[in-house]
Amino acid sequence: MASNAAELEKIARAMVARGKGILAADESSGTMGKRLQSIKVQDSVELRRAYREMLFTTKGAGEYVSGAILYDETIRQSTSAGKSFVNALKDEGILTGIKVDTGAKPLAGGRKGETITEGLDGLRERLKEYHTNGARFAKWRAVITIGNGLPSRAAIETNAHALARYASLCQEAGIVPIVEPEVLMDGDHSIERCQEVTEETLNAVYEQLFVQNVLLEGTILKPNMIIAGASCKTQATMQQVAEATIKTLRRCVPGAVPGIAFLSGGQEEEDSTAHLNAMNALGPQPWEVSFSYGRALQHSALNKWAGKAENVKAAQTIYLHRAKMNSLARSAKYSEKEEKKLAA
Ligand code: 13P
Repeated sequence: MASNAAELEKIARAMVARGKGILAADESSGTMGKRLQSIKVQDSVELRRAYREMLFTTKGAGEYVSGAILYDETIRQSTSAGKSFVNALKDEGILTGIKVDTGAKPLAGGRKGETITEGLDGLRERLKEYHTNGARFAKWRAVITIGNGLPSRAAIETNAHALARYASLCQEAGIVPIVEPEVLMDGDHSIERCQEVTEETLNAVYEQLFVQNVLLEGTILKPNMIIAGASCKTQATMQQVAEATIKTLRRCVPGAVPGIAFLSGGQEEEDSTAHLNAMNALGPQPWEVSFSYGRALQHSALNKWAGKAENVKAAQTIYLHRAKMNSLARSAKYSEKEEKKLAA
């Protein structure tokens, strides 16, 4: 057993503490730039910093948010008052996480459109530096695409292998790995097909985590929900999504894993919350059922902020509300009435 097993388990449990979830604010500079341009804000290092400052200095966020995932550029930045983002988060009781993969690249030997996530070279050294900088958990996103003849076995197995190599290196460095095998919502596939591919992917991932001696108690899984493709004509109900997702995860995810923190994957903000609520309404599971949302926590707040200092307070109110709604969904207490309280 890893000599730091107790510490890893403690961090992982804190990440999925009751009523709390994770803010994924680890968009690469390129992706963040596109998000800014989409709201007609010019992309610059300073505006990316200012936007993250808005999120990270939201008073009271720590009541609903256990950790925030940052990008390499962001973990080195500070508030306008000169406090490092890591310390600003700490002041709110929020742990710092770091995205450590270097992106999904075309998979040699795979089928058209398939990718392998890169970033293993030099990862041991980078993790050491991130730990010194205050990161206590990390993220690596593998992408699995459903399509005609996709995914191939090559895509599933190479990505599972890389996820496990990353997870092992993280634990060696005293960092809890978020293991994220995302089966994309893109396409017109049915919910059944999503279920089938997710099950195959998760089985491959847990086999590799076992082979590579990853301590499951010191990991968090970040999966997609089981949902029909975004352009599928037949969309499942909230209840069907919740039941299919929990059923699949119960089949594939060992009870030793402390928590499952879903990605939102392009779902609307309120849908992501309602799905999480419906899953938690199904009763207790072997692991915590939580969130690690990016777009679903930020979308409305980003729009309200719009690059203007005078909008910071209003944007923070919106972000805090979304975080609170997802926190309520952690114990199946989310409702329309709670949702409407912001407008009131
Ligand atoms: P979304 O919730 O926007 O899918 O982002 C979560 C994430 O971190 C994807 O890697």
